[in-house]
Amino acid sequence: MFPTTRMRRLRSSKFRPLVRENELDVKDLICPVFVDETATEPVEINSMPGCFRLPPDMAADEALCIQDLGIPALILFGIPQEKDETGTHAYGEDDVVQRAVRAIKKEVGDIIVMTDLCLCEYTSHGHCGIVSGENILNDPTLEILAKTAVSHARAGADIVAPSGMMDGMVGAIRRALDKSGFGDTPIMSYAAKYCSAFYGPFREAASSGYAFGDRASYQMDPGNSDEALREVALDIEEGADIIMVKPALPYLDIVYRVKKKFGLPTAAYHVSGEYAMIKAAAQNGWLDERKAVYESLLSIKRAGADMILTYFAKDMAKTLNPG
Ligand code: PBG
Repeated sequence: MFPTTRMRRLRSSKFRPLVRENELDVKDLICPVFVDETATEPVEINSMPGCFRLPPDMAADEALCIQDLGIPALILFGIPQEKDETGTHAYGEDDVVQRAVRAIKKEVGDIIVMTDLCLCEYTSHGHCGIVSGENILNDPTLEILAKTAVSHARAGADIVAPSGMMDGMVGAIRRALDKSGFGDTPIMSYAAKYCSAFYGPFREAASSGYAFGDRASYQMDPGNSDEALREVALDIEEGADIIMVKPALPYLDIVYRVKKKFGLPTAAYHVSGEYAMIKAAAQNGWLDERKAVYESLLSIKRAGADMILTYFAKDMAKTLNPG
């Protein structure tokens, strides 16, 4: 007898939407924004066609545009005029991110402003912590991260997002925020962040390439997955409200395990290299950009992510809600 089950019955365009298990929604998206103190006009990032570094006084317009597309949140990355050994310009009241946050908060009513919290854009050597010789020092970096977090919150940041993979960073930031009256400011931790080749284009975008070595002494080994669960567990213990896995597509197994095990709001970062790959192939006519982006982001959601940081956020919003 022919099988009574025919999987194709529900695959017609009529039934497909009814039985669909996962949907991508514009509310799942978080849009990265680069604010560059040295720019006087938008500068397109070579390795990320369609993405720009914006002068600080354009941040609010960009936020408005993102809000109008229905995207609920953006995440700010700052490029300072001046860098030094210890990342002094990460935490000044009038430094690039603080200014951008204030401008956005003043002019845009209804968007969640997240701030990436790391030193690599602010240090002359480009590492995510302060250094001694070729060592990246963990504990002395925590103080600077804590100070920076408070300065972001004071400027009006809704969520701070530490990305430097220093041990204890979430706890140090939580304590500093609480002490300064920002007990209600959530932390989105880049909890399982891998030492990945897919960050290549970002380093041009944020001018955060490093002067020596690599980030392997603090970012995770791509071969490990149990370790990611330990990283995430520690960050939760230290007070993380949202946990992130990064990059996204090559690490969907991690997204899946993290969401399954902890059940916390989980973010995945579809990183610069993932963006660049699709863009480059599309520019060559080798794949359909819109379809490839949609499928990629939907897959990240299917793996368990509640929210996705992606440079395709604005394009995707237009695809999802045309007109
Ligand atoms: C800063 C930071 C990086 C990214 C986000 N925050 C770069 C890095 O760790 O080298 C990468 C984002 C991307 O590639 O899109 N620590």
